[in-house]
Amino acid sequence: MDLSPFLENHSWSFPVPIEYGLGRLDEIGHFCLKKNCSHPLVVTDRGSADLPYVKKLIDSLTKAGLTSDLFFDVSPNPRDIEIEKGKSLFLSGEHDAVVAIGGGSGLDAGKAIGLTANNSYELWDFEYERTSPPIDENDFPMLICVPTTAGTGAETESTAMLTDTIDQVKRCIWHRNFKPSLALLDPELTVNLPPHLTAWTGIDALTHAIEAYSVPGLHPLCDSIALQGMELVHHCLPQVYSDPNNISARGGMLVGSCLSGIAFLKGLGLAHAISHMVGALYDTHHGLTNAVLLCSVLRFNAPTLEKKIPKMANAIGLKDHSPEQFFANLENLMEELDIPRNLLDIGVPSGCTQKVAELAIRDIAASTNPREVTVPLIAAVVESLL
Ligand SMILES: [Fe+2]
Repeated sequence: MDLSPFLENHSWSFPVPIEYGLGRLDEIGHFCLKKNCSHPLVVTDRGSADLPYVKKLIDSLTKAGLTSDLFFDVSPNPRDIEIEKGKSLFLSGEHDAVVAIGGGSGLDAGKAIGLTANNSYELWDFEYERTSPPIDENDFPMLICVPTTAGTGAETESTAMLTDTIDQVKRCIWHRNFKPSLALLDPELTVNLPPHLTAWTGIDALTHAIEAYSVPGLHPLCDSIALQGMELVHHCLPQVYSDPNNISARGGMLVGSCLSGIAFLKGLGLAHAISHMVGALYDTHHGLTNAVLLCSVLRFNAPTLEKKIPKMANAIGLKDHSPEQFFANLENLMEELDIPRNLLDIGVPSGCTQKVAELAIRDIAASTNPREVTVPLIAAVVESLL
């Protein structure tokens, strides 16, 4: 074992309170009251606005004596102009908190509105690579996150991926002092997710775990959590795909997704760097795009993962820890989940390689990929999937 990392300094932190359990969305009003919030803005995406869980959430708030408004003008890949509208509603409605409910888009929109609502900074002032504006923890509104897919893992931190509609790229925003006050995990909310979305969002969670674990550097909290998230998602995903009502496996997926989301505090990798830009350019589903990319990116990164692949293979229950068995298992999983084999099948046009590669290398996730990347190397990975 290499003990040299223990001679260096590190900074580790751990995220937010989590409440888990079946049917616990009913308690959201109670949780808001406990945190002295009385008039939240509920944020979700357009596709979720009419779903029963949004009504259930608002009913719970009302029963607890709280008033609220609903903002749902949010695309699958949330846009900067939508965040401006949400912020305006937050301010005109004099809200004191954001309750974000949904998949990645609803949660990211809620977080972005919360980031910008109580200050005069512009949205892109919060871009990940920039120095965070000087804002104290207490100057942000309270944020509660309620995931309805087991995939994004976005419920325990403040990063949000948004499309810059002027430059047509996705940018990551966050603030180190802005964290959800609570993540509420209720597996019942994921039961009605259609099989294809269950698969796509589930592979997003698996990609988080694998890419986070692959990021170089010592982070014992994130590394352990990544392996446990990987084990849970890999074990439960085929079960919920074939049997959507398997509530215990739905619970395993939701917790596995949350763990995988915590793990990527450490960073992500090339699958996400490419996926972010493909999503911004062609509006593809984030999890599906990752699913198409994951195995090719892993094969590309394999020379740098000699010590880590056996541990990942062990985590997903393989007896043979060789890279080939690990890749073969993941490729079989993609087939079992009916994931298309190439990017053309998900609406990405041929001829986009250079453009995608030039944008992806600037993505924050490319900087933590275990193998150093260049535009030609990224282009070769993309081209192999067209
Ligand atoms: Fe992701």
